[in-house]
Amino acid sequence: MTATCLMSTYLPLTLSFTGGLGTRLWDEAGREYLDAVAGVAVTNVGHSHPRLVAAISEQAGLLMHTSNLYSIQWQQELARKLTGLAGMDRAFFNNSGAEANETALKLARLYAWHKGIEKPLVVVMDNAFHGRTLGTLSASDGPAVRLGFNSLPGDFVKVPFGDLAALDKICKTYGHRITAILLEPIQGESGVQLAPPGYLKALRELCSRRAWLLMLDEIQTGMGRTGRWFAFQHEGIVPDVMTLAKGLGNGIPIGACLARGKAAELFTPGSHGSTFGGNPLACRAGCTVVDILKDQGLLDNARLQGERLLAGLRAALSEHPDVLDIRGRGLMVGVELTRPLANLAAIAAHEHGLLLNVTRGKTIRLLPPLTVNEQEIDEIVLGVCKTLASCTGVGGRGLKAEVLPMTLTLEEVCS
Ligand SMILES: Cc1ncc(COP(=O)(O)O)c(C=O)c1O
Repeated sequence: MTATCLMSTYLPLTLSFTGGLGTRLWDEAGREYLDAVAGVAVTNVGHSHPRLVAAISEQAGLLMHTSNLYSIQWQQELARKLTGLAGMDRAFFNNSGAEANETALKLARLYAWHKGIEKPLVVVMDNAFHGRTLGTLSASDGPAVRLGFNSLPGDFVKVPFGDLAALDKICKTYGHRITAILLEPIQGESGVQLAPPGYLKALRELCSRRAWLLMLDEIQTGMGRTGRWFAFQHEGIVPDVMTLAKGLGNGIPIGACLARGKAAELFTPGSHGSTFGGNPLACRAGCTVVDILKDQGLLDNARLQGERLLAGLRAALSEHPDVLDIRGRGLMVGVELTRPLANLAAIAAHEHGLLLNVTRGKTIRLLPPLTVNEQEIDEIVLGVCKTLASCTGVGGRGLKAEVLPMTLTLEEVCS
């Protein structure tokens, strides 16, 4: 098949993989790569995890799909596991992150309808990304994803991420129409942007005081990525609604919208649904992912290796003339550059056997599987240094490209 048979939504690299195991992928020529992309925060328990492969294979041989016209035991089980971990009451399953967020937005609408709000608004954040359906695109920011899709539903009001004063102003104008706040606890697609300390807690208090729903998009941050099951757990709060996808199925498509309190009671038979959502195969995969994360202690590993990754990058690159900032939480780390070199960096990294991702042109995003070990973290740091050396002529600690041979060790780059 040629690329021209596909709609032109991506600009895929020519690189193509034929196999993967743990943190490693192999291309068609048999060359090995260390994967610091994890299918964009999806393969959290690593590629081809034997326990997951066995569970999916067994389930595929037993039963893959029956529809939601019948009760599905694995769906009940996954809902029980996730609500227990998150402190939520109920779950609805679908097939992607965008669909999970659509579910959350429908809950916000129903919530407003019950309160008698005629033209409800959901507060969303500048630079947010919530998906590509028309509803979630409206809730997202950035001309690159929105261009050409006017007119998008206008039921959103945007505020700068992390800015409580701006939110206060919006409340004064639109407070009577607002029904919910939707945000990512850490903005992923816009370059791993962390909220200022106390921001989520302040939003929680505001939502409780005004009886608005606090809806967290944990599609990228959830399932252990930041070192806790969900990023909100670092903040000592619980949202009213939370969405998941990506790492939940480790590659088997599944999304979920979890809710508690009134928000969990809004749907009634017929008000929402999905043909595939929550089928036995996807839910068995989700249950197995939860068990693996727990049994292998991968949340602790994400925290520890994330600290090592940040420390390693900072030691090597904080004085690099093209590095503006190095930030992150757990295994969600961004290296922001001063100029839009990041696309070049993604390509250069391949030459060094490393897969990394780039957001908004200027930020290298590192999202390795949560199974990554110390040696691999050091390999990632060294790979980023070599990549920057290839792109800018300067490697770690201000080393010029010509004095940064492929054989240089991490200690040599950092010292
Ligand atoms: C925070 C966030 N929300 C929603 C989505 C959309 O998920 P999907 O591509 O599965 O629809 C993404 C995908 O990158 C995301 O990072």
